[in-house]
Amino acid sequence: MLRSLDIILSRPRHSLVTTINPWRVRGYNVSRDVEDHRIHNRSQNLPFDEVVARHLSRRQILQGGLGLAALSMMGGFGLGGSNGARAQDKTPLALAFESILGSRTDAVVVPAGYRAQVLIPWGTPLNARASDWHRELVMTPAQQANSVGMHHDGMHAFPLDLENASRRFLLALNNEYIDQDALWAPRGPTQPDGVRPADEVRTEINAHGVTIVEIQRQNDGGWAHVIDSPYNRRITTATPIRLSGPVAGSDYVRTRYSADGTRTRGTNNNCANGYTPWGTYLTCEENWPEVFVNTGERFSDDARLGLPTDRGRYGWETAAGDGEQDDEFARFDVTPGEGEASEDYRNEARTFGYVVEIDPYTQAMAMKRTALGRFRHEGCWPGLVRAGEPLTFYTGHDSRNEYIYKFVSAANWDPADAPKPGSEADRLAIGSRYLDEGTLYVARFDEDGRGEWLALTPGAATPTGQTLAAALNLEADDAAGVIIHTCDAADLMGATPMDRPEWSSVDPVSGEVYFTLTNNSKRTADGTDATFTNEGAALEASGAGYATAPTNSANPRADNENGHIIRWREQSDNRFAWEIFVFGSDAGANDNRSGLTPGNQFASPDGLWYDERGEGQGILWFQTDNSDNAVAEYTNDQLLAVVPGALDSGRGSDSVIDADNQDQLKRFAAGPNDCEVTGIFATPDRTTLFINIQHPGNWPADGDALTQDATQVAAGKVRPRAATVAIWKEDGGQIGV
Ligand code: FEO
Ligand code: CA
Ligand code: CA
Ligand code: CA
Repeated sequence: MLRSLDIILSRPRHSLVTTINPWRVRGYNVSRDVEDHRIHNRSQNLPFDEVVARHLSRRQILQGGLGLAALSMMGGFGLGGSNGARAQDKTPLALAFESILGSRTDAVVVPAGYRAQVLIPWGTPLNARASDWHRELVMTPAQQANSVGMHHDGMHAFPLDLENASRRFLLALNNEYIDQDALWAPRGPTQPDGVRPADEVRTEINAHGVTIVEIQRQNDGGWAHVIDSPYNRRITTATPIRLSGPVAGSDYVRTRYSADGTRTRGTNNNCANGYTPWGTYLTCEENWPEVFVNTGERFSDDARLGLPTDRGRYGWETAAGDGEQDDEFARFDVTPGEGEASEDYRNEARTFGYVVEIDPYTQAMAMKRTALGRFRHEGCWPGLVRAGEPLTFYTGHDSRNEYIYKFVSAANWDPADAPKPGSEADRLAIGSRYLDEGTLYVARFDEDGRGEWLALTPGAATPTGQTLAAALNLEADDAAGVIIHTCDAADLMGATPMDRPEWSSVDPVSGEVYFTLTNNSKRTADGTDATFTNEGAALEASGAGYATAPTNSANPRADNENGHIIRWREQSDNRFAWEIFVFGSDAGANDNRSGLTPGNQFASPDGLWYDERGEGQGILWFQTDNSDNAVAEYTNDQLLAVVPGALDSGRGSDSVIDADNQDQLKRFAAGPNDCEVTGIFATPDRTTLFINIQHPGNWPADGDALTQDATQVAAGKVRPRAATVAIWKEDGGQIGV
């Protein structure tokens, strides 16, 4: 049965729906960018044609073409011929907490019977070189370089020894961006005569990046960091980092700092994260373009990615000149000079936009793994790990109408490459085996509920029959050029523009891949024409990119303000089968496609973690980054939980979660006012869950304390600090069940 259905599903896409023509080509224009040595192909293919097929929902097609039986069978395909080992005959996990009400207070809210503790808020000293934190502390470059960074986002735990993995570990934590008002409270940032003071800029640079800090459970059940642990470390937007993979050593990244194009300084706007089977941390550069400025002739990728043309986000470049060291500020101005690329910083921004690998157990220089593409990476999550097979990593570009990607290693996984936690091993050398050579793919989601991974290799054939290198006007073997122009390459291959891809997580038993699509104000209605970011003289030299794109079956709501979660299963021949898991909505909306109630209404899903609990059962946790809509009027950002294995999928409704299974999706926690809830993992024994509270408005309550009760409401105005929150059950049991 599986075999015969697989044959049906393996037919060419058009055999199912012959009216779909995703390769419709827009008007063709070229313009030359001499700096770039390539012609920018402005030809463009709509994601889907504007004809009948786009008006058919995926399920209508499936019901007409394959039927509901086929739909449920599609849900049964797993990787590598597995039939998706979700144990249908086992009693599913039950979420043993009452869904909490929405909350709009200056406090974290958790269910009855749970405790929530603030841990390592911004400014927590990591070593004796930093002074103690207090509410009126004036931050300095050195103080910040030796303290926890700002605006906690993605994170992951790395045990030091397996026996104590649930009591002691290294926490790798992204510090995504800064709140200048809190950083410089009470006076705010300064800019006399339009120039940022050097030490203010150094402090802000040091508040970004990544924190590595040792964490231990205390005898009272709470958690604390270990000050002066030899593992404690900061990697900031100034730390030297090595480039590796196709871009390393290429002409695209030569700078005055690194004339051979092998190094850069810093990682920036590290949003979400990932991890590897060999015990390293992956941190992902998201909204980095805005810290640069180019007031002159722009590379096409500068425009495609949105580098400012007047001023960087914080004006760091204004501090350049006397008093700076090694162009520490000048490098943020990437305006090309008169001479060679190695004499200025025109290429500095091309050393950003990557997945960065860090060995949390050593002080080794981090590596930017350029093979995984260059864009505004949200995060990077491992797929199924199987001995003797390539490794897979999923990564998304969080911008409106951007794409979902995956990287597949050239090398097959050897379990001998997983060193013991905390042991001496050159983990980054192992990383070079799996992350520097492989194939980057971008996803096309088709109307029939299937999709295809499109290889972004120089020799890949575009829908118009050119090689991708030729379409990008690159040399035939220019793998580095394809990576530098990842977004253009994805445009040219016909990828599906998505509703802002954020986090991903994989069910390790079924192989189902979940992906949050947070919202999209630039998703237009059926029948409208797409518009492109390069329309208009100022962006003439840019790649295309969708400024707006009409709905498609994987992103079916115009002006999608509430977002959704999609999931898929990999199939053979770079194909996959997808379905929508849940649509965000307020409970009272007309377009409440998943039938949400006050107890679980949510919008703008972002953080996501499939929490495997054994025997093919697990909890899917997801977090929100929402504002300015009906859900935001009801509740602050939140953490929700659902047990996918308890859901009866494939009944023909719009999404897996629907009006008939509402009691399965529950609100577990809510954050303080103005925050976003992000970053998530639990101890291996699942007795403590860790989340991050980013950009709170007036929290935590005690402005001087480092650890404190996260559920306490602030009295009066406090200097807000992003922080990790540890949540555990008063009875010591497993979280959620
Ligand atoms: Fe930094 Fe896409 O969230
Ligand atoms: Ca964030
Ligand atoms: Ca995010
Ligand atoms: Ca977000």
